[in-house]
Formats: sequence, structure tokens, C-alpha cells
Amino acid sequence: MGSTMRAVVLCGGEGTRLRPFTHTQAKHLLPVAGKPVVEHALAAVRATGIRDVGIVVSPSVEGQFRERLGDGSRLGLSVTYIVQPEPKGLAHAVLCAQSYVGNGPFLVYLGDNLLQGGITGVVNLFRSQSPAAVVTLRRVEDPRRFGVAVLEDGRLVRLVEKPPNPPSDLAIVGAYAFTPLVFQAAREVKPSFRGELELTDCLQWLIDHGHPVLPYEADGWWQDVGRPADLLVANRLLLSQIESRVEGEVDRGSTVDGPVVVERGARVVASRVVGPAVIGEEAVIERSTVGPHAAVGPRAVVREATVADTILMDGSRVEQGARIVGAVLGRGARVHLPMGKPSSAFLGDESTLEVKEEG
Ligand code: DAU
Repeated sequence: MGSTMRAVVLCGGEGTRLRPFTHTQAKHLLPVAGKPVVEHALAAVRATGIRDVGIVVSPSVEGQFRERLGDGSRLGLSVTYIVQPEPKGLAHAVLCAQSYVGNGPFLVYLGDNLLQGGITGVVNLFRSQSPAAVVTLRRVEDPRRFGVAVLEDGRLVRLVEKPPNPPSDLAIVGAYAFTPLVFQAAREVKPSFRGELELTDCLQWLIDHGHPVLPYEADGWWQDVGRPADLLVANRLLLSQIESRVEGEVDRGSTVDGPVVVERGARVVASRVVGPAVIGEEAVIERSTVGPHAAVGPRAVVREATVADTILMDGSRVEQGARIVGAVLGRGARVHLPMGKPSSAFLGDESTLEVKEEG
């Protein structure tokens, strides 16, 4: 049974909180630490040993996912796309995947959740104990924007979605394992206060109907990417795990310190790169200082500038004296701020931030 377990990665929904970037790109395809958020999630799935992954997408972005991930073979996976016609909630998304998973147990992973320790522990617990479900939990300071779990003597007794007065500090992390019993639960629960079918309510339904649901406590950091600032937090956390790899060109006038990835076709000229940092394919760094915590996208250009703690998406440019710290630049965006103080900005695709010098 174990080896045939499939995974369902949820990437539906609207991503409205990540505007302006999600006007043009699906939230889960936004780059963090050199690759799309969802590819980090897919790498975690692959590490569990699961190879068959159904990705739930909304109709408007299905093409973008197919273009980027294809059949999944580049990532060592076999990917099937499952379209959720409308974002009616996590449990609704899981129902959309029913014919894909069939009669076997399966993993559900929210495509915007990143976990330092991965999700292999969830799968291992499920395989060793064969419960009806496993839900991942983690203690957080402010659980109000999450599902929240209550344990009694180590047993799960209650789960509530986004309670204004949280009954505990144990948040529900977006990694679950289920038997097909969850489909029955998803058909019986009613839409929540936010009008969605909640997985949290399905877990409660399973408990109320006497089916064992086990908690799995994650350790290490956990970050979900919901707002632009979260992209930068995730970028820092993921970059802190990279290992050096230089496939592009670093000229003799440049120095590279700490863990740095320079992808194929990238050029670093007369510059200083301070890791952790990633320089994407065919990016150009000239007479600049880049890093720490900089993820420079493919074909981006940094010229006579300083860039740290920043995500530069595909083809964006930072030029002529600009000092950028704590910024996210969309594809093709451009910053031109001569001799300014360090600036932070969230700039959508193809936009320009420019200050002309007086006189
Ligand atoms: O991040 C963990 C939290 O995720 C849990 O603590 C909550 O219990 C759980 O309900 C969920 O809450 P969010 O409000 O953060 O979920 P969100 O609407 O952001 O959606 C999470 C992922 O699922 C995201 O990758 C988009 C996808 N999704 C969402 C909806 C509503 C779908 O695929 N279809 C949907 O209909």
C-alpha cells in the first residue's frame, strides 16, 4: 500500500493578498530563493518517496503551471493537473482530487506552506500507525490566522478554523495524510464562516465519528506565503539552506563569500557576492554588491548597485547607484535611484521606480 500513496498539492485559490505580483503570475509560481514556491513544496513531497502528484489549480492559471512544471519529470515526479473550477475551500479542492487518488490513502500538502523539516514525518507516522488521518501541528505565537488544535493527554479532541479566541497555541500546518474517509467527511460538513468547505471541519468530523486522527508536531521553522512580506521571510529561510554551486562565470575582479549559487550563463563582473545568495540563469551582476539573502532571477541585471535581502524576478533591473534592501521586484521591473538611502519596495511586473537627480 505505502509505495502507491499519492500526493495532492493544493495550488488553487485566488492569491489576492499577494497583489500586485499575482495580477500576472500564480502565487505558487512566484520565485523564492531561486525557484517557484511550489517547487520547494514539490521537493518536500519527493523526499517522502511519493512520485505521483496531483496539483489542484484554478482554471485561470492552469496553463502557467503546465508551462513551468510540465509532466513533472524534471523534478523526478509524475504530475497530473486537477482543475478546481472555483475556490470553494480546501476540502472542496480535495474532493476535486477524488478520482485522481482513487481508493488509496494520500498526502495533502498546501502548495504555499514551507517547512524546514519537510513532510516525511507526516507520511511515516501515517504509514506506521494507519489512522484515518494525520494532521501537522506547530506552536505559534498568534494562532488566530490558522486552524487551531486542542490536545488532551496527547490526543486530538478539537479543531477550529481561525478562532478569534484561540483555545491553544497549536496551529494547523498545511500537511495532512488521509484515507478516503475524508471524502465522506467533505460531503457532510457545511461551509464555514468564510463560505468554504474546510479541511479543519473534516478532521473534526472524523474525530466525532470515532475515527483516529493523529497529530504530528513539526519542528524547525514553518512559513506560509500569503503576503508580499512573507516572500522575503521565506526567501531568507530557504536561502539559509543552500549549498554553493557555481556554473556561471565569476571574473577575477569579483569575490564570492559564503554559500552562493551562480546558475548557468550568469555573469558576475567586478562585484562582490555575499552568501547566501542565488544568481539566476543569464543574470548579470556588474560593479555591484549582492547579498546576503538576495535571489537574483534569470536575466535580471544589477549594475553599479547594492542589493540585499531582496527578490529580483525574471528580467528586472537595479541600476546606477541604487541601494535596495528588503525589496521584491516583479518581472521586468526597474529601479533607478541614484545615491539614495537603502530603499525597500514591492514593485509589480514591468513597473519602474526612478528618481532623477536635480540639476
Ligand atoms: O497555512 C496553514 C493554514 O492553511 C491552516 O492553518 C488552516 O487551517 C487552513 O484552512 C489554511 O488556511 P488559509 O486561510 O491560509 O488557506 P488559504 O485559503 O490561503 O489556502 C491554502 C492553500 O490552498 C493555498 O495554497 C491555496 C489552496 N487552495 C485554497 C482554497 C481556498 C485551493 O487549492 N483551493 C481553495 O479553494
